[in-house]
This record gives sequence, C-alpha cells and structure tokens, in this order.
Amino acid sequence: MRGLILAGGFATRLRPLSCSKPKLLFPIVGTPLVELMARWLSSGGVDQIILAVNHLSDKLKIEVGRHVAGVTVKFSVEETPLGTAGPIRLAANLLGKDDPFFVTNGDIVSDIEIRRMLEMHEETNAEATMAVVSVPDPSPYGSVLTDSNGKVKEFEEKSAVLSAASHVNAGVYVLSQSVIDSIPGGRSVSLENEVFPKLVRNGRMQSWMHKGFWYDIGRVSEYVRANHELLQKQELKATKPGASEVGREILRPSYLGTRTHIGVGAKVGPLAILSDNVSVGDEAIVRNSIIFEETSIGEKVAVEGSVIGERVVIGKGSRIGHGSMIAGQLSIPEGSIVPPNSVILC
Ligand code: GDD
Ligand code: MG
Repeated sequence: MRGLILAGGFATRLRPLSCSKPKLLFPIVGTPLVELMARWLSSGGVDQIILAVNHLSDKLKIEVGRHVAGVTVKFSVEETPLGTAGPIRLAANLLGKDDPFFVTNGDIVSDIEIRRMLEMHEETNAEATMAVVSVPDPSPYGSVLTDSNGKVKEFEEKSAVLSAASHVNAGVYVLSQSVIDSIPGGRSVSLENEVFPKLVRNGRMQSWMHKGFWYDIGRVSEYVRANHELLQKQELKATKPGASEVGREILRPSYLGTRTHIGVGAKVGPLAILSDNVSVGDEAIVRNSIIFEETSIGEKVAVEGSVIGERVVIGKGSRIGHGSMIAGQLSIPEGSIVPPNSVILC
C-alpha cells in the first residue's frame, strides 16, 4: 500500500534549526524522523512512500535516497508550494490506483495503528478517515467534534471556538481515490480549510481515536518533548547499565549516538541526546540538551537546556545559556557567553 508524506513547507517554527535541515531529517533520539516514520508506516502495511516536497528537496533526495527502513521512496516535487491538499493531486500518478491510501503530515511521531484505521475506514464506508488525539491545549491544531459513532460532525482548523470541547486532528489520514478528484488542480489547496469541511458536510468523514503516543514536532517545545519522552521510554526498555566510563560522568536518561567522543572529566546528562559523531571536550558539561550530528563541543564548555544543530563548533570555555538554539554550522569563538534563550543564525 502507498502512503504520502507531506514534507514541503518552510518549518518556520523550527528556525534556525530548519534553515539547512528539513524537518524530516531532524533527529529523534538520534534517528532521523523520516526513518521513524517509514518504520511506523511499514508496520501498518505501507511498502511505498511518496515524499511530497518543495523547500530543501535536493537535500532530502540526497539524504533519503530510494529506500528507507525497507520501504521504497518516490519523490513528488512541487515548483511552488501547493498546500496540504494540492500535493496529493499532484502525486495522483504516483499514488496509482491504490484505493484507499495513506497521507500523513511530515512532522508526526506516533504509533497510530494504521491497519486498524484502515479497517475502520472500510467498515464505515467513509471517503476520509482522520486519526484524532486528545491534547491538553487543542488551539494550535485542527479541532474535531464527532458523534457517538466517531463520524466527524464539525472540523475547524485552529479554532478558538471549537477547541475547548474537542479532540484534535493528528495529521494522519486514510483517503479514498474520490478525494483526489475533489482537489482543484494548479493552485495551492488546503485539506483542512477546503477539502475536509466539504467531506464533513457530506457526512463522509470518519475519525479514528488514537490513545498511544503522538507528537507534532513542528514547534521546538514539542520537538524537545518528543525527544525527552521517547528517550525515557527507551531507557525503560534498556537492560544494560548506563554508559559510565572512568573519568567521565554519564547520567541517565541520556542517549549517545555512534562514534560520540566524551572527554575526560566531562559530565553528560541527564537528558543529553547526542547524535552520531558528536564530540564533547574534556571537563565540558552537557545537560538537558539535544545535539545534532557532527557537532563539536569544546573543552570546559557548558551547554544546558539547548538545541544545537549539526556541524556546529563551540569553542573552549564557552557557556551556552538555557533555552538557546544554535545552527547553521556556526563556529562559536572560544570563551563566548551566549545569554539564555539566544537564537543564533539564519
Ligand atoms: N508538500 C507540501 N507542500 N507540504 C506542505 C506544504 C506545501 O505547500 N505546506 C505544509 N506542508 C506540510 C508540512 O511540512 C507539514 O508536514 C504538514 O504539511 C502540515 O503542516 P504544518 O505547518 O505542520 O501544520 P500544523 O502543524 O500547523 O497543522 C496541521 O497539523 C496538525 C497536527 O499536527 C493541521 O493538519 C492540523 O489540523 C493538525 O491538527
Ligand atoms: Mg505540524
């Protein structure tokens, strides 16, 4: 079965980290999001993924290649952004005659049971089935009201009115081929504002209530929360003791990617997530932070509560204040004091 991942858009809420790195390549406890999504989709029977892309599409093509986690990958590239529905129409040929097929937003980390969603779609004879979740604050999402059978009665994107009493759109859908026909061609079209309201009015939209984990990593706070919560889950499953070494202190929960180097006297963790090839200098401190691949943290540097992008070099003795984000392969000079909540580059 085929699944389309909506992976265009500019990820402005993840700047500066997203300036040179598409959301789909963001590491989630060291694994690129696209790989997590491919594993999740393939566990539900998807064997071919179509990546609907525009911004940074060349980088994605190079990094993702033709297969991820055993799933075949095809690219559908928009010349100009076509919104959330336009790319589905553009990819109609790649979706072929699969009826129904999957569509998901490209920033979702979840264990939604898509096979069961598909069964629900077929049993209810819906044209679209949307996974919904319950979150403490629904206002940044699409609000969904359903009847007792789960049929969607009202849907409104980022609604101030509906949100109080509703579940939210998880950004994961089973769609029938007829939905493609209803999307106008040649312009940007929104699933949420144009396609779904019509399906709801016609009584053809079903919901699938998801009770497991779900994150939209499109905002930094949620990206960090997803990493921390998944890290804790992995730690619970891990059987071997923490990776403490003589002369270094590695406090759990923490994640060290492959070929990470931790200097003598360094203190790493708790909640330190280091992607592959990260180096932490002697006597440096890294706590409660996410460090992307190939970044180098110098001797006696302190990084706390921050997210550091890939290939950044932080010079000896620097202090990175809580809540900071540094990206763009920057070099921070020795002895720098970066005040809390600093956002550097782009
Ligand atoms: N190909 C393509 N082209 N993809 C796009 C475009 C475009 O022009 N615009 C946005 N996307 C992709 C984004 O990359 C993202 O993966 C997905 O469409 C949704 O866009 P977001 O910008 O992340 O939307 P949101 O998070 O504010 O809201 C959406 O997701 C929520 C759940 O996470 C909506 O679908 C809400 O209803 C939903 O609750
Ligand atoms: Mg999003």
